[in-house]
Amino acid sequence: MPVPPRVRSVGGVEPRVRDAFAAIDRRSFLPGPQRRFADQDRPLGIGFGQTNSQPTTVVNMLTLLDVQPGQRVLDVGSGSGWTTALLGHLVGPEGEVLGVELVAELARSGARNLSAYDMEWTSIRPAEPGVYGLPELAPFDRILVSAMADELPLELVDQLRPGGLMVIPVRSRMLVVRSRGEDPPEVTEHGRYAFVPLVAGDPDR
Ligand SMILES: C[S@@+](CC[C@H](N)C(=O)[O-])C[C@H]1O[C@@H](n2cnc3c(N)ncnc32)[C@H](O)[C@@H]1O
Repeated sequence: MPVPPRVRSVGGVEPRVRDAFAAIDRRSFLPGPQRRFADQDRPLGIGFGQTNSQPTTVVNMLTLLDVQPGQRVLDVGSGSGWTTALLGHLVGPEGEVLGVELVAELARSGARNLSAYDMEWTSIRPAEPGVYGLPELAPFDRILVSAMADELPLELVDQLRPGGLMVIPVRSRMLVVRSRGEDPPEVTEHGRYAFVPLVAGDPDR
């Protein structure tokens, strides 16, 4: 899809993020009835009370995440699979993107959507109940979290390689978290956003 006009007008879209948006068609990640809205700059329903995120928000998050070719990336809340595919384009065949999704049906449909792109270095799996991310497959160079946390989940910070970056909305603020290994992470704030909640996925809830 084209980069949304509101983003283009501020002139700040990094060319690699722009290329990823051009290569990966948002429409192909949407349920049939939503496809006609694909060019609109707003979140769109994908079922189970979840959304495919607003394009401007995704552009901003990917720009903050500063993904480089060859990196290993974790996509928490892969939903429709769109962000996993965009990340797959950014890391290229030398990299790896692992999506993880709490709603099992979305993990399945997201993986199906993703498979149309022949990026065998990308995959999506269901989240393990009560576990954030994929600790057994860490460390990651980058972590994208597309759901809102109440507080910074340290389990996810621990899955970053030292020097690695995570972009995550926490209490409506977009945070960039840089791991400093054993030292506390460096955290910076980058504007206010609305998101669906990051759920711990405890089977007893
Ligand atoms: C905004 S939506 C999906 C955005 C997605 N990146 C896309 O492009 O379609 C956020 C997703 O996070 C999922 N989610 C919430 N808590 C989660 C958790 N703890 N682990 C994995 N996924 C989670 C929700 O089920 C939802 O599908």
